[in-house]
Amino acid sequence: MIGKGFMSLYREALLGKSDERITAFTSSLEEDKLIVKEVIEVLIAHTSHLRDKGLIPQDAAVKILNELSKLLKDSSILFTMNVEDVHEAIELYLRNVVGDDAGWLALGRSRNDHVAAALRLKTKKTIIALIGELINLRSTVINKARKYVDVPLPTFTHLQPAQISTVAHYLTYIEESLRVYTNILNYILTEVIDKSPLGSGASTGTIVPIDRHELARLLGFSDVLVNTLFATSSRDFISITASIVTSLLVALSRIAEDFIIWCTPQYDYIIPPSTHLSTSSIMPHKRNLVTMEVIRALGGEAIGHLTAILSISKGVPSGYNLDLQEINKHLLRLLLNTLEAVTVFRDFMDGVEFNVEKIRDDIMKYPLTTTELAEFLSLKLGVPYREAHRMVASVIKEVGGNDLRKICEELSRRLGVDVSDLNEVIDFENALRLKKVVGSPNPEVMSKHLREVEDILLKDREKYMNLRSSSGVGNEL
Ligand code: ARG
Repeated sequence: MIGKGFMSLYREALLGKSDERITAFTSSLEEDKLIVKEVIEVLIAHTSHLRDKGLIPQDAAVKILNELSKLLKDSSILFTMNVEDVHEAIELYLRNVVGDDAGWLALGRSRNDHVAAALRLKTKKTIIALIGELINLRSTVINKARKYVDVPLPTFTHLQPAQISTVAHYLTYIEESLRVYTNILNYILTEVIDKSPLGSGASTGTIVPIDRHELARLLGFSDVLVNTLFATSSRDFISITASIVTSLLVALSRIAEDFIIWCTPQYDYIIPPSTHLSTSSIMPHKRNLVTMEVIRALGGEAIGHLTAILSISKGVPSGYNLDLQEINKHLLRLLLNTLEAVTVFRDFMDGVEFNVEKIRDDIMKYPLTTTELAEFLSLKLGVPYREAHRMVASVIKEVGGNDLRKICEELSRRLGVDVSDLNEVIDFENALRLKKVVGSPNPEVMSKHLREVEDILLKDREKYMNLRSSSGVGNEL
C-alpha cells in the first residue's frame, strides 16, 4: 500500500530509513502540487524519447506511459506519501503499479534537469496566459477611453490638483504601461524562459545518447539551454520573470490606489461595478472598493516574493542545492497572483464608469489652467517663462488661487494684455485644444492616438495567437 511511512526510494541503500519529520521538513511535495502536471508532462516526453531511441524496452515504456497518462488525469494519490518530492512520489507509485520495469524511467535524467524543465514549462504557460490577459485588458481600456475622449479630468501631482486632462488620457496612460509589459514578457519568453534544460542530468549531461534538441521539441520548447551546468543550476529565469511581474503588479497597485481615492465620497469621480465593492458588517452605509485594495496588497506581496527569490539565490554555490527548491513556491504564488490580479482588474475596467458631473464641478473649483496662462504670457509678451510664472504666482497670492477669471482680470490690468485673450486660455476645453504635442489629452490628438494603439493591439493579438498555437499552450494552466 502507498501511504504514510512508505519506503523511500533514493536514500535507503546508502543511508537507511528516513525520519518522517525530517523528510517532511526538507520535502517539496506540498508545493509540487502546483507543477505536478508539468512534471508528468516532462516524464512522458522523456520516456517517449527513450522509447523512440530504443534506449529502454518497448514494453516497459508502454507500461510507464500508460500509468503516467492516468496520473495526468488524477494525481491525488501522489500527495498522500511521506517523500522528498513529487518526483520520488511518481517513481514510487510507478514501481508499485508497474513493478521493476518502472525503474527504466530513471535512465538519463535527474530531478535537477527535470524540476528545472517543469518550472520553465509552468512559467511559460502562465506567461503566455498573462500576455493574453494583458492584451484583453488593453482592449477593454482602449474601448473605455473611446467613450471618454472629451470628458475632462484633473491630473494630480503630489495629490494636489495639477493640470487639465481627460479621462481618455488617464486610461491611455494605463494602456501604454500595459503595452510595455506585453512587449517585455514576449521578450523574456523567447530569450529567457522557453528553453529546455532536459538531458543535462544532475549537472554535466549523461552518457545516455539523448538528443537534447529532439527532446526539447517533444515538449514544445523552442530551444535548448546549452551548458548543462547552467541548465540545471541557474534560476535566473525565475528572478528575471519575478522582477518583471512584480514591477507590473506595482504599476497596477498605483492605479488601484487612484481608483480607491476616486471612489471616496469626497472625490466621487467613479462609479465602480458593484461586484467590486464590499459593505461593512456594522456600518450600513459603507461601499469599499476591496478588489483594488487586494491588488494594492498584492503589489506588496510580490515585492516579498521577489525579495525571497533573490535572497535565497544569493550565495547559493553554482550547481543544484536544495535552497533552489525553496524558491519554487514564491515563483508559483507570484505568477498565479499576477494572473488573477490582471483578470480581476480587467473586469473592473470593463464595468467602471466616470462621474462626469462631479468631475466637472471639481474642474470649475480648482485652477487647473494656470500653467497655460503663464505659458501664454511668456509667448505673447516675449518674457522668459520664469518671469511669467512669477507674475501669475504673485497675482494668485494677491487675489487667491481659486478664481481664474479674477486672476485674468488682475493680470490684464497689470500687464495691459487683452482680458478676453486670457479668458480664452484658461477655458479648460480651449486649453486642451491648444495642447497639440504628441501624447497630450487634446481630444483630436487623443483620437489619433487611439487609432494607432488599436493597430498595435491588433498586431500584438495576432502575435499572441501565433504564440499560443505554436507552443501548443491553450488556456489550461
Ligand atoms: N524537489 C527539488 C526541487 O523542487 C528537486 C529535487 C532535487 N534534489 C536533489 N537532491 N538534487 O527543486
